[in-house]
Amino acid sequence: MEFCVAIDGPAAAGKGTISKAVAKQFGFAHLDTGALYRAVAAKMLEDDEDLDDAGAASRVARFLTEEDMSHADLRSERAGSGASRIAGVPAVRRALLEFQRDFSHRKGGAVLDGRDIGTVVRPDANVKIYVTASPEARAARRAAELGTDPAEVLQQLIERDKRDAERAAAPMKPAADAYLLDTTDLSIDAAVAEAAARIDEALRRSGG
Ligand code: CDP
Ligand code: CDP
Repeated sequence: MEFCVAIDGPAAAGKGTISKAVAKQFGFAHLDTGALYRAVAAKMLEDDEDLDDAGAASRVARFLTEEDMSHADLRSERAGSGASRIAGVPAVRRALLEFQRDFSHRKGGAVLDGRDIGTVVRPDANVKIYVTASPEARAARRAAELGTDPAEVLQQLIERDKRDAERAAAPMKPAADAYLLDTTDLSIDAAVAEAAARIDEALRRSGG
């Protein structure tokens, strides 16, 4: 079985948390695709490369290593906003696409979370969920994680979401057939249960 779950949505909406939990519950593999874009940016920042240099960004994306993927700075908002800058470069997206598609076809099933999984990476995914939450809730959650100021994080997330939604290459948007999951007033358990229910339904439909 090559069941594929696509989870997209804006920054700090709960995509990763939900993806990890349902992957564990259903025995699927999980790929955090944002980490690929973050790794490119973190590596460039470390090497003092210009994030606006599209050629340099696509070179780093083509030769991404396991080590880059576990960069110490990966989760910082600096790497997140850097990621969003290089993510607009079509050659960067092309360089990362094949790995994501291959992963999504894993036997035993896969969950991928990002911005364009349901629209570009796997428009044919068995389940598509677009996770959202109010900007304030998302900023409060990310600030708690990073131990930083919620007001500052809010500005950074708003800026990043705008750039991700307005870019020409694979912009962030819900697929037409995505299930919208607003987690503003949901506990993690409730959000995971709702995503799991959508997956259960689709598995039953596909006879799995
Ligand atoms: O992957 P994404 O950036 O969309 O978000 P995340 O890293 O899964 O979640 C950001 C933070 O929000 C984490 O600390 C989660 O524990 C928290 N969260 C929450 O408080 N309530 C939810 N319903 C989902 C996530
Ligand atoms: O965890 P959070 O939602 O804050 O961010 P992320 O999922 O780690 O993604 C970081 C950045 O990478 C996003 O703001 C996007 O610009 C980019 N990204 C993308 O363009 N396409 C994806 N499939 C995943 C991430």
